[in-house]
Formats: sequence, structure tokens, C-alpha cells
Amino acid sequence: MPQYNFLVIGSGIAGLSYATKLARHFEEANEAVSIAVITKVQADETNTKYAQGGIAAVWSKEDSFEKHIDDTVDAGDGINKRDIVEIVVTEAPARIQELIDYGTRFDKEADGDYDLAREGGHSDHRILHFKDITGAEIERALLEEVKRHANIRIFTHYFAVDLITQHHLGETVYRYREDIKCFGAYVLNTQTGEVEKFLAKTTMLATGGIGNVYQSTTNPTIATGDGIAMAYRAKGICDNMEFIQFHPTSLYQPGKKPSFLISEAVRGFGGILKNADGNTFMENYDERLSLAPRDIVARAIDSEMKTKGTDHVYLDVRHLDYEKFVEHFPNITKTCLDVGIDVRKDMIPVVPAQHYLCGGVKVDEWGQTNINFLYAAGECACTGLHGANRLASNSLLEAVVFGHRAYLSTVEKLAEAHIPNNVPDWDDSGTTHTEEAVLVTEMTRELNSIMSNYVGIVRTNRRLKRAHDRLDLLYKEHEALYRESKVSVPISELRNMINVSYLIIKMATARRENVGLHYNLDNIKS
Ligand code: FAD
Ligand code: SIN
Repeated sequence: MPQYNFLVIGSGIAGLSYATKLARHFEEANEAVSIAVITKVQADETNTKYAQGGIAAVWSKEDSFEKHIDDTVDAGDGINKRDIVEIVVTEAPARIQELIDYGTRFDKEADGDYDLAREGGHSDHRILHFKDITGAEIERALLEEVKRHANIRIFTHYFAVDLITQHHLGETVYRYREDIKCFGAYVLNTQTGEVEKFLAKTTMLATGGIGNVYQSTTNPTIATGDGIAMAYRAKGICDNMEFIQFHPTSLYQPGKKPSFLISEAVRGFGGILKNADGNTFMENYDERLSLAPRDIVARAIDSEMKTKGTDHVYLDVRHLDYEKFVEHFPNITKTCLDVGIDVRKDMIPVVPAQHYLCGGVKVDEWGQTNINFLYAAGECACTGLHGANRLASNSLLEAVVFGHRAYLSTVEKLAEAHIPNNVPDWDDSGTTHTEEAVLVTEMTRELNSIMSNYVGIVRTNRRLKRAHDRLDLLYKEHEALYRESKVSVPISELRNMINVSYLIIKMATARRENVGLHYNLDNIKS
């Protein structure tokens, strides 16, 4: 069975920036190590690849760390961890310079300075971007950088099923036990159907978001919360799961999954939100108008749609310089045109869609979880940076800063790690290939419906209770099916999405005040 020094689960910005740092460190030290990066489909199919707007950092002389810190805390409704915000904002320029050194291109002005865009909640222009496909450019550059390191091997089409801890050695592992250790993961080779044991001294969870828990999401199909669910089952601590960010402006295309994003940078460029009557409405909600933080804009749109009885609102860019618009947003312009929307003449129909999870596996300032030798970074981690609502373009940034910090900690702690020699192979005795794919599909639909209808932008105690009760039934049905089935990606993803939904509902129910993205009508005091 393979044994590695380092296991990295996920090949987005968090996983790859961590892996490349480790690779370079040991090459420079002339030490031979093995770094396994696993990814459930092809290497670039990640949330990272779809990022549009860009990555935030203080880059111009007019801007300052204080302003970026204040904007982050303001967007997060004040419950961010201030020390983490300061770390991320001040380390941002160095980490972004490394991305540039790996070959990432960001758009420049004619004078050679970076073209800094502005997005909702930012008091200055500070978003580095590559047209409207920044994530694809970063992912490309990171994958190129990986190729330069012979000590990294990427395993595509490998699906991590469960983390390995002392539980698998027959010990009782409870959540607040301080000496839980991670020894790697059981991983399904989706091409052979066999579950392999990936033993490793340290394991990094960089598994991204949870979008597919909801009916409509901007996230690709890989985003099923696997890392968070695996960590939780291994007795990891999760936090802030109630803070689900709905992006205000996904393209209105009923039934299409994932939803195509119309970047917030379009509003930063001058796009204006209008209701079904063609009238502006943001002035009734926030003085920052279309560029208020996302939680405020998404709720305003939700309220506007409910008041007018419509399924969407509009984003109007008809007044903007078309040539400049196309230059900055070629992908958005083309995608609109492909579905018959000519942004010169037509307003773009938009609707909020699930976009980002602000919570996740709780980590310290070095990316360490409560489980020893288990790190988490990127969207699956909860560092405290975002508080109750993430500021636009702070996600790629958080991933790259924490990829770096986790690498430093991994190197420091490595000598303490060891792999026991009695970890059993995956045991699937008594299970069979399920003929019941229809059950998994239907249960996923039910889950999506529960989460979208009862745990969306606006919540109530009654909706949350109903969500909890319905989910409990689904959980029991699924557990029975899971116990008798050979492991497969769909049944495991559903298991993970049920676990993640449970955490969202539990934390949403426990939160008694409205803050940031959590908005419960029953919390409003009359
Ligand atoms: P990802 O990039 O999602 O990578 C997750 C990896 O984990 C994948 O390789 C996947 O295969 C792997 N994985 C998951 N589960 C398993 C498993 N069980 N086994 C094996 N592998 C697994 N943020 C910004 O800051 N700026 C933006 O402009 C921006 N725009 C966005 C636009 C869109 C449409 C979307 C969806 C998101 C956007 N975001 C943006 C958010 C940002 O892109 C993500 O939060 C970030 O890329 C997450 O990176 P990550 O490395 O944590 O995870
Ligand atoms: C966008 O381009 O609007 C997405 C930015 C983000 O999610 O940070």
C-alpha cells in the first residue's frame, strides 16, 4: 500500500499552493520526500478554476492595510477574528507576488501598473484579475508549477472516503480528545473501484466548498463538502457553518446547474441592479447601492423578487462603454450572447445562488485542525477571516495565505509524526454494488429541496425545525443504504452532503441573533 510523507486532498488553489511550497522546501534541503495530491476528477476541475472577479490585496499607494482590514471586518459584520484578518491582509502582497512568480498573469494598465478592480464592500480598487477568468489563470499557473516538482504526484479520479485515525486501530475517539491523530485517508480509485489506503505523516484537507447541497449554486459538481464531512466524522471541530453566502447575481437560467456567475466586478465596473419594472431599488436598502456587501444585496434582491412576485431582477450594463466591457468581461459577454442576451441592448436577468461557505473545519492561525497532523485550508476551512460574511475576492487570498502558513507548520511538526504499521485495509465485507442509483438521485433532490426552501437567504425557526426533521429521515434512510452498499462516489457524496447539511441546520438553529449571512425572521425583535 502506498505510503507518503504528505497527503493533500484537493488540487485547487489551497492544495496546490501548499504542495508546491512543501516540494520546493525539501528540494532546497536536498531531502527526498513524496507528496501525493489527490483530486476526485481531473486536476483543474475545482471551484478555483471558475473564480472570476479576482484576488484582493493592497497594491496601490492610495490604499492601505487598515482599509482592507476594516472592509473585511465590516463585511463580516464584526465577528471576524481580528488577528486572522490582520495576518491575511498583511501577508497578501507577498503571497500574490509568489503566484506572479509562478507565471500567473494579471491584467495591467497601459502604464504597466496592475489594473485593480473594485467589488462590493471594498472601499478601494484592490482586486487583481485576469479578465473575468482569474481562477482559471491561477489554476493553470499552479498546475504548471506542480510539473516543475518531481516530488509531487497528482492522482486524478481518486475520491477520499474517510480519514484514518486511531478509530481505525480500534480505539475510542471522541470529539474533544486532545490526542486524535490523522494517518492519511481511505481513497476510492474511481477507475478500478478499489478503496486504497493512502498513509501519510500529515494530511491536508483542501476540498473546497459545499454548493451542491443547494438546488442552485455557482459551484461545479465537485463541491459536495467532502472534506468537512470527513473531518467531522473523524471528530474534527467545525464552525460558522450557518454562514452560507449567496452570490447576488447568477445568470437566471432555471434548472441549469451550476449557475453561471455574473461577477460582482461587473457592478464594480458600473453595472446597476434594477427590478422587474426596470427601476433601481438598492437605494431602499443600503447607501452603497449595488456595491453593498453581498449579504445585503442578496437579501435586497430576495425581498424585491418576493414583493414583485418575480423570479429574477436585472443587472443593467447598457450604459457602459461596450468595448471596455468586452475587454474586461469577455467570458461573461460571450456566455450572455450564447443565450440570446446582447448586453448592449438587453438587461441581464440575475438571481441569487449559493456561492460560498464562510465556515468549515476550524483551524488555528497555522491551518491546524483539532486533529493532530491534519491541516485544512481554503474554502473547507474556517479560519475566522470572513466572520459572518466573506468580502469579495478574499477567498482565493485566504487559501493562498493559509496554504503557506500550513506549509510552515507542517515542516516544523514533521519530526513528531509517525505512521502506525497496523492500519487495517478498507473493510467492505457484507456489502454489494447497489442497484438503487435512483434512490441516491432522489435523496439528493430531496436534500436540495430541504436546504433551498428552509435554510436559504431568509430563515425562520419553523423552517429550520422542518429542515431538521426531514433531514433526520433522509439520514436514517441513507445510513441503511450506505451500510449495505459497496462504496461509490454518488453514495459517499450524498453521505457528505447530509453531514454538512446537518451542521448548517444545527448551527443556524443555535444562532439567536441576525448577523451577516444568517437572517432569521424570528430573531427580529419587535
Ligand atoms: P477548490 O478550488 O474547490 O478545490 C477543491 C479540490 O478538492 C478539487 O480538486 C476537488 O476535486 C478536490 N476534492 C473535493 N472532495 C474530494 C474528495 N472527496 N476526494 C478527492 N478530492 C476531492 N473567490 C475569490 O476570492 N475571488 C473570485 O473572483 C471568486 N470567484 C468565484 C466564482 C465562482 C463561480 C465560484 C464557484 C467561486 C468563486 N470564488 C472566488 C470562490 C473561490 O473560487 C473558492 O472559494 C476557492 O477557489 C476554493 O479553493 P480551494 O482550493 O479551497 O477548493
Ligand atoms: C465574483 O467575481 O463576483 C466572485 C468574487 C468572489 O466570490 O469573491
